[in-house]
Amino acid sequence: MSDPFQDVDAAGAEFISAFADSMDERQSDPIMEKIVSRYLGKLEFAEGSLTIEVGCGAGAVTRRVAEKANPERVIGFEPSVGFVQEARTRVSDHENVEFEVAAGASLPLEDGSVDNLIMHTVLTHVEDPVPLLTEAVRVIKSGGRLILCDADFSKASLGNLPNDPLDACAKIFVKEFVTDPYAVAKLKKLASDAGFKVEDFNFQSRSVLDNDQMLPWVEETGKVLMKRGEIGGELHNGLVAEYRRRAKEGTLYGYQVFATLIARRP
Ligand SMILES: C[S@@+](CC[C@H](N)C(=O)[O-])C[C@H]1O[C@@H](n2cnc3c(N)ncnc32)[C@H](O)[C@@H]1O
Repeated sequence: MSDPFQDVDAAGAEFISAFADSMDERQSDPIMEKIVSRYLGKLEFAEGSLTIEVGCGAGAVTRRVAEKANPERVIGFEPSVGFVQEARTRVSDHENVEFEVAAGASLPLEDGSVDNLIMHTVLTHVEDPVPLLTEAVRVIKSGGRLILCDADFSKASLGNLPNDPLDACAKIFVKEFVTDPYAVAKLKKLASDAGFKVEDFNFQSRSVLDNDQMLPWVEETGKVLMKRGEIGGELHNGLVAEYRRRAKEGTLYGYQVFATLIARRP
């Protein structure tokens, strides 16, 4: 199966709703807030400026960007019609933000019209990131900034012990739901080759200890395996129950590393 984030609408309404909630929850995490506020702190939101998020999903990050940029304009672009519909319903109290259906390699924007362009956990889900970077360099104005923030999925874990069944779910999740788990290793070269000047490349680890933020790594993985007839409902329910048991008892230990690249268009 290919990564469903490559074509979210084809993955169906249940997937869209589950991951819209999950990305909102991820964005409410204090470490994720630290990551986002750090990169937003490096951006300028001058009067009349335009900031865009490419691959905005249901808008969890875009809403945070809109808060910071307010009253300047923010647009979230997203190829999934279903996610754009979710984004529009979740954005009630922000007047400076809009959402449009568009893929990252063909943005409906003039050359040099964007001050800040953000891609947050997008490049790990595309087969070929080069066209997205080529489009970014086209739309960003001279002196404008590019933010690439992504998880290093190759190092993500849910393991407390050798051959931990929850860690096996995490590894299968990465295989089924991520296109390039090693994308962060390539970010600096990708940005430089596209013509950006890299100003900062930073890492932040993040643990998930007592909440549902990595539950889709078990629950959605289990659904894929059940659909293929590879596991039964009892095992699926048992894995989800084990995640919840650990979260309740204080032994859940999810681990992820996020990389953020900040670059300027000369
Ligand atoms: C894990 S979600 C992240 C959503 C959002 N940035 C967030 O962090 O809440 C990955 C997003 O990338 C989008 N995506 C996949 N391929 C894309 C492409 N070629 N251009 C733009 N977005 C793309 C997916 O539709 C999905 O919404």
